[in-house]
Amino acid sequence: MDIETLYFKVDPLAPESEALNTCGQILRKGGMVAFPTETVYGLGANALDGEACRKIFMAKGRPQDNPLIVCVASPRDLEVLAATVPSRAEKCITAFWPGPLTLVLPKTGRIPIEVTAGLDTVALRMPDHPVALTLIKSAGVPIAAPSANLSSHPSPTIAEHVLEDLSGRIEAVLDGGPCRVGIESTVIDLTADRPVILRPGGVTREELEEVLGEVVKDPAVQDHSLASRSPGVKYAHYAPQGQVVLVEGPENKVWAIVTREVNLARSQGKKVGVLCSAESAVIFEQLKPDYLAVLGPKQQPWSAAASLYHALRECDKRGIRLILAETLARTGMGAAVMNRLDKASG
Ligand code: TXA
Ligand code: MG
Repeated sequence: MDIETLYFKVDPLAPESEALNTCGQILRKGGMVAFPTETVYGLGANALDGEACRKIFMAKGRPQDNPLIVCVASPRDLEVLAATVPSRAEKCITAFWPGPLTLVLPKTGRIPIEVTAGLDTVALRMPDHPVALTLIKSAGVPIAAPSANLSSHPSPTIAEHVLEDLSGRIEAVLDGGPCRVGIESTVIDLTADRPVILRPGGVTREELEEVLGEVVKDPAVQDHSLASRSPGVKYAHYAPQGQVVLVEGPENKVWAIVTREVNLARSQGKKVGVLCSAESAVIFEQLKPDYLAVLGPKQQPWSAAASLYHALRECDKRGIRLILAETLARTGMGAAVMNRLDKASG
């Protein structure tokens, strides 16, 4: 696999361009294009072309049983993709689209088996990013788009991350700058009696409950030994090469543990990184760890979401062997961030 990967810089405020036309054409011809969304970069292929979608699995090294999300440019596109759109789905679309919410609905016969990995449902989302929406329109077809990383690497939040993983494996990358949300969309299954969150993400459970009433969380989100309705949940995503250790508890205890562990790692000649809140940064700066990522104020978990994957990739680039991560409250956006950190820590 060694193809020339075209690189295009695009202005998200004025996405219509020659680059977008070219990329639309690549997609129509069965090629792959990575593009920015508000959550993370996606790796797109024509969702109605099974052969094109098969290439996504090859390029990413993705397990065959992990289905793809299909991105649309308008809720009207669901007509040909979803067999039914229940009123709960309509409510979600009105409240959250375009945005970081993926709906699992019964699929139609238009969706190739490669997209859904043999399931009778399809995951659908309308991204809130002008480049993504313009690209889908330019292609004239719905776009299957998992995150544009090698399988098991953290999702890419800038075009540089995409090139690190997929250069030479895909036809093109559209660089529209950093992704605003920074972690993936929330995946909600609307095919059961009650709405089930299969993956926490950019829309919080609290926000969903305001629109839908009670929403349950798939138990497999926490306990990876359980079978999930979302096949992707069982894979060890977001894992950096170093060991991730979560440090939880009252501030003083967290400070004491991190201080002890940084000093211990240093005495063993092991490179150590610290991921922490703005509040703790003043203490941890003095320890001079090999890498310090300040993920923002404790009360602003969306700021941690926006910088988490970048921080995990930086740890790898710097050869960090031990990553000490201060935990956040597991509510609102903090729940989605902690889900990624839980997975990263295995
Ligand atoms: O924010 C996002 O959703 C990004 C951007 C690029 O759109 N995409 C993304 O895709 O995160 P991916 O492939 O990394 O994650 C897709 C998740 C997986 O956990 C997969 O198992 C689940 O969605 N999924 C896809 N189709 C499904 C289905 N029919 N039923 C249940 N889960 C499904
Ligand atoms: Mg992914």
